[in-house]
Amino acid sequence: MAARIIDGKLIAEQCRELTATKAAQLKTSRGVVPHLAAILAGDDPASQVYVRNKERACAKAGLHSTLHRLPADVSQQELIALIQSLNQDPSVNGILVQLPLPRHLNTTQVLDTVHPLKDVDAFHPENVGLMLQGRPRFLPCTPAGVMQLLHSTGTPIAGKHAVIIGRSDIVGKPMAALLIQKGADATVTICHSRTPDIAAFCRQADILVAAVGIPEFVRGDWIKPDAVVIDVGINRVGERLVGDVEYAPALEKAAAITPVPGGVGPMTIAMLLQNTLKAAELQSA
Ligand code: GUN
Repeated sequence: MAARIIDGKLIAEQCRELTATKAAQLKTSRGVVPHLAAILAGDDPASQVYVRNKERACAKAGLHSTLHRLPADVSQQELIALIQSLNQDPSVNGILVQLPLPRHLNTTQVLDTVHPLKDVDAFHPENVGLMLQGRPRFLPCTPAGVMQLLHSTGTPIAGKHAVIIGRSDIVGKPMAALLIQKGADATVTICHSRTPDIAAFCRQADILVAAVGIPEFVRGDWIKPDAVVIDVGINRVGERLVGDVEYAPALEKAAAITPVPGGVGPMTIAMLLQNTLKAAELQSA
């Protein structure tokens, strides 16, 4: 039987509506409209699309957003100075530095400059540490979105073997942390570029999270029958967007699967809005 398609767009809309309701309440109770400041350095076409989608989503949820565009040759000092001024600005609740940054910039130093209470991407070491210890301030957007999608399937996560492909700081590592935390209780394997026979691990995955950034890396015959498959990849192949999973054969084997586009992508933005609201709540408490 073909898998259930997990409708990330619909679930993201429901999350956004909840954020909109809470944002309206915050405005009534404390006179605060959550404000996200996004920084886009350079003119990477994919980043321009992501940032535009984030701005649109803010507007739909009644959040304020501003975009700071910087030239591709911006210096490290100029970028750091902008972040410092946004840190100091009481009208700004959340700061997002769109990645990837131009290659000459030191990404770690840039992200470490964002004030931890305004770090709505949850990239700052303080927020990563809090999340790892199971007392999160902000949840990392893509992994938090994946958790919501998993919950939406109604399939219990506890005791399941979750296999994550990819060990990035943005997805793979925090994804593992959320899946093993108390309450989620999965058993987690992380595969990466030095893992021999990734297919063998995938075949044991009750939950498979693909975050490698290689089009259709996960073949249909790697999917365990009735697995839940979450495809984090968004790869442009000619005119088409494809995920990290070979979709059509995976659809035949899995119990549930996310499409690309319309799966994880919209959830990442929904979680960003949720974090921006939380930042505004924390700062106005
Ligand atoms: N580039 C790709 N994913 C992300 C993300 O989640 N946050 C930011 N800031 N940049 C990204």
